[in-house]
Amino acid sequence: SRVVKLAVIPGDGIGPEVVAEAEKVLDAVTADSDVTFDKTRFSLGAGRFLETGDTLTNEDLAAIAEHDAILLGAVGGKPGDPRLKDANIERGLLLKLRFALDHYVNLRPSRLYPGQSGPLAEPGDVDFVVVREGTEGPYVGNGGAIRRGTPQEIANEVSVNTAYGVERVVRYAFDLAERRRGRLTLVHKTNVLVNAGSLWQRIVDAVAQEHPEVAVDYLHVDAATIFLVTNPGRFDVIVTDNLFGDILTDLAGAVTGGIGLAASGNINPDGDFPSMFEPVHGSAPDIAGTQQADPTAAIGSVALLLDHLGLQDEAARVSRAIEDDIASRTGSGRTTAEIGDAITARLQA
Ligand code: NAD
Ligand code: IPM
Ligand code: MN
Repeated sequence: SRVVKLAVIPGDGIGPEVVAEAEKVLDAVTADSDVTFDKTRFSLGAGRFLETGDTLTNEDLAAIAEHDAILLGAVGGKPGDPRLKDANIERGLLLKLRFALDHYVNLRPSRLYPGQSGPLAEPGDVDFVVVREGTEGPYVGNGGAIRRGTPQEIANEVSVNTAYGVERVVRYAFDLAERRRGRLTLVHKTNVLVNAGSLWQRIVDAVAQEHPEVAVDYLHVDAATIFLVTNPGRFDVIVTDNLFGDILTDLAGAVTGGIGLAASGNINPDGDFPSMFEPVHGSAPDIAGTQQADPTAAIGSVALLLDHLGLQDEAARVSRAIEDDIASRTGSGRTTAEIGDAITARLQA
C-alpha cells in the first residue's frame, strides 16, 4: 500500500481550527483506501516566532522538503501587531516556502456552488480558475528603502519577471484551459507596467500559437475587477502575475460566497518539490478561537491535494461531500467543527 508523507502546518489564528477539520476529512476519506498518510506536524508561524524567535529555520525547510505534500492552515498575526514588527512571517515563512519549493503555479479555483448565495443578484454560472504566478513578480524583488524615516525617504519595490518564469506558468494555464472550457484570459496592466506587461503579452501570444483551440483574451487588472463582479461567468482560466492574482482571488472568493470557501494549491508541477495546499484566506485574528471560521476552504484544499497526488477518486468524494453540504446549508450558526463533521459524515454516505 502507498504511504504519502504529509507535512502539516496548522499555523496561527484560525489555521489550527480549520486544519483540524481538513484532517478529519482526509483521515475519513483515506480510512478505507490503500493509501496511508504519514503526517508530520510543524509548529510554525507567529506563535512559534513569539516563543522562540524562529520563523523558518533551514532545518525546518529541509525537513518539510522531505515530504510528498504540505497542508497549511494560515500564518501571520494581527496586522500591525507591534510584537511581530521584525518577524515578517509572510515573507520569512510563507513566501520562503513557496519560493524554495518552486511553487510557480498558485492554483485558485473559484466556483459558485449550487445552492450557494453570494453578494451578486444574478451571478450566472461561475466556474473559473486563477493561475497565479507564484515565484516572481513584486513578491520576489526587494527594492529596498533609503533615507528611511526621513522626509526624503525613497521606498522601492521591484517586480521581477523572467521569460522562463512567465513561460512555464503560461504553459500550465493553456494546458488547463484546454482541459476545461477552452478560454484563457491574461490579466495584467500592460498600459502602465510596460516592461513586464509586454513580456507577459508576448509569451501568451507565442504559446497561443500552439493552442489554436484555446480562445485568448486580455484584460487590464482594473477592468478585470469590474467583470469579476458584473459578469464572472465569462471567465474560465485567468493567468496573471503574483500580486494581481493575490488581489483577484480574494475578490473571487467574496463573489462566490465567501473567502471561507476558497481553496488553493501552491504547485510545483514538475514534482521536484512537495506542493502545498492551503485556504486562500489568512489567519483571521478577528474570529480566531471562536469556532466561527468556515473550514470549507481548508477541506477544499484537501481535495486539491488528493487530486495532485493522483488520488482522483478520493478527491472527487471530498468535492462531492462539500457540494452536498453547501447545497443543504440553511444559514449560519454552525461551528467550525460542526461543518467539518457534517462534511465528514457526507463522505461516508
Ligand atoms: P484574513 O483572510 O485572515 O481575514 C479577512 C477577513 O475574512 C476577516 O474578517 C476574517 O474573519 C474573514 N475570514 C477569513 N477566513 C475566514 C473563514 N475561513 N471563515 C470565515 N471568515 C473568514 O486576512 P487579513 O486579516 O488581511 O490577514 C490576517 C493575517 O493572515 C495577516 O497576518 C496576513 O498576513 C495573514 N495571511 C496569511 C495567509 C496565509 O497563511 N496563506 C493568507 C492571507 C493572509
Ligand atoms: C495569500 C496571502 C499571502 C500572499 C501573504 C500572506 C503573503 O495573502 O496567500 O493570498 O500575498 O500571497
Ligand atoms: Mn491573499
